[in-house]
Amino acid sequence: WPYLFSAALGGYLLGSIPFGVLLTRLFGAGDLRKIGSGNIGATNVLRTGRKDLAFLTLLLDGGKGGVAALIAAGWGPDTMLVAGFFAVLGHNFPVWLRFKGGKGVATTLGTLFVVSWPVGLIFAAVWLATAALFRISSLSALLGMAASPIAMWFVTGDLQRMEFAAALAVLAFLRHHENIRRLLRGEEPRIGSKK
Ligand code: G3P
Repeated sequence: WPYLFSAALGGYLLGSIPFGVLLTRLFGAGDLRKIGSGNIGATNVLRTGRKDLAFLTLLLDGGKGGVAALIAAGWGPDTMLVAGFFAVLGHNFPVWLRFKGGKGVATTLGTLFVVSWPVGLIFAAVWLATAALFRISSLSALLGMAASPIAMWFVTGDLQRMEFAAALAVLAFLRHHENIRRLLRGEEPRIGSKK
């Protein structure tokens, strides 16, 4: 269990680095939590008008999940999954922001790429295809999340990995409750709008 504990703690600490908040502050793009949805993720960074910072946020928020899982993978699959899951928890509930963090989409994606890269690709493909169709980030994220446990099952046939993807999907749906409400009302802003 010392490995599992270290993986959880390390994953949490890595995941809790709020790259969106740090980058927008560093480059004078404003206070992310007072812009758009108030979320700390790449989608909201895009609403500052800084595409470059949004892309960097996506990369770094994804990267921290991937790196956490990758480092822990050396101690076996259990520690890898624990580190990945806790990286997403760290992003969603960072101690530095009084536990008010993000929704975990990029960090989940980064983790999935390490746990099973074809599943990461499927998630990304679902996101891109549905975003091209509807141009709503949260909707694409939810569809990608819903697809990932199914994809995980078909790609790996591993029950534990499928449960891991399912747990992350459930967590993401819970974190998107405001988005889901807006989606149902038809009020969710489209990608590219500044709202
Ligand atoms: O990745 C988060 C995205 O799904 C929704 O972000 O800012 O529109 O709530 P936001």
